[in-house]
Amino acid sequence: MVCAGVILRSGKVLLARRGPGRRHAGLWEFPGGRVEAGESAAESLRRELREELGIEAEIGAELARARHVYDFGEIELVAFLVSKFEGEPALTDHDRIDWVEASRLLDYELAPADVPIAKVVASHKRRGRYQGTHPRRFGEKYKELAGDAEAAEKAKARGSTPAGAHLPIMLSEVLSALEPVSGASVLDCTLGWGGHAEALLERGARVIGLDRDAEELERAKARLSRFGDAFAAVHSNYAGAAKALKTLGLGPLDAVLADLGVSSMQLDRPERGMSFKADGPLDMRMDRSKGKTAAEWLAAASEAELARALEAFGQEPDAKAIAAALKAKAGTLTTTWALASAVAEAKGLGPGRVVKANAFSAHPAARAFQAIRIAVNAEDEALAKLLRELPYLLKPGGRAALLTFHSGEESLVGGYLRAQRSEGLWAGEIAAPKTPRPEEVRENPRARSARLWSVTRT
Ligand SMILES: C[S@@+](CC[C@H](N)C(=O)[O-])C[C@H]1O[C@@H](n2cnc3c(N)ncnc32)[C@H](O)[C@@H]1O
Repeated sequence: MVCAGVILRSGKVLLARRGPGRRHAGLWEFPGGRVEAGESAAESLRRELREELGIEAEIGAELARARHVYDFGEIELVAFLVSKFEGEPALTDHDRIDWVEASRLLDYELAPADVPIAKVVASHKRRGRYQGTHPRRFGEKYKELAGDAEAAEKAKARGSTPAGAHLPIMLSEVLSALEPVSGASVLDCTLGWGGHAEALLERGARVIGLDRDAEELERAKARLSRFGDAFAAVHSNYAGAAKALKTLGLGPLDAVLADLGVSSMQLDRPERGMSFKADGPLDMRMDRSKGKTAAEWLAAASEAELARALEAFGQEPDAKAIAAALKAKAGTLTTTWALASAVAEAKGLGPGRVVKANAFSAHPAARAFQAIRIAVNAEDEALAKLLRELPYLLKPGGRAALLTFHSGEESLVGGYLRAQRSEGLWAGEIAAPKTPRPEEVRENPRARSARLWSVTRT
């Protein structure tokens, strides 16, 4: 059994988050821990809160119980109210804490077992905030995610991360691959939240960060502004990396990083329409200033084109059936849940919203979402262009690290690197990509499919 505390202060609830290398890293939780033999759940919680947060708490009424099956086994979670405590919660065991309005708990990406507890806590106030049982606009529910600058600033000021932050994948492995020395020049082709860039800057590197997503770029730019001239952010597709460097008056660099795909922030913002996790308009564009949305792309694509994309970019075994079903519904697929339901139905799983068994299992629409996102953003073309230019972005002896997340990216990256190696552009053999440590995967499910490729320029 596991105990958890719903700690209240001034009407807000404390959520805590563990950093890389810890169980549930990147997910928000109510603080607590294992109930030890010989202790009651309340006694264990009092001890856990003392050890984890440095507070002396008075454990109140039992609030809720929940069961959850993780890949490491089933747990029963018992949550207590904690409205009185002495001391100020400290970051001894966590990397972030955040005081959250009860009505906004479900806006945070919670550890799965904590979700039912959050629902109990949030249920009363949620009704008061919106008219009806659901927010009418996505922005109403996801104000902070939609860029509520004040909320983000407040979170930053207390050293917290606003909901929707991204944990850098295989960070220590990326740093070992790039070996950034002080003053080294590094191009981060996929700046995102700036997690990798931040670690490189902290080691004294100078970083140029590219992102085709102007909204995410602005957030990262503000977040990393403390590094002054050592950091520059450029709104650009990495397909135009060479041009971007030329515009900045820069020649070949010491290192290049590309962490492919989408970020947690993009996935977590329902209005970006990238994920089946929440309902949102079916957009999926990384750069919202141009191109067709996923809804427009689906309406315009032929059935054969759709099936090809599902096969090539999603390795979707039911590509033909799904393509036929999506075309039959053409024009009505304007939201993420409509698309997820249509895919599930085409797979014979019945209509309605599909709920994943747990954070580690794949959603039946996951492959289709990935394939449509890749097609909408022409991700394969951009990656091929970057790979063609990659050797020439680096000085002799310069290093590159690429994080891929699916077999399509793996075969493009592996194919280009091996071909360039045979032309003498890379030193040594092209090693098989590294996989994340099991602990990282357990704690950050989004790391599970990551593969790290690293090469050194001759
Ligand atoms: C996985 S995230 C990167 C996360 C980042 N490494 C971190 O630690 O926060 C990928 C980012 O790359 C961006 N991106 C994807 N394709 C891109 C492209 N072709 N050109 C530029 N940016 C791209 C996405 O918009 C997203 O913000």
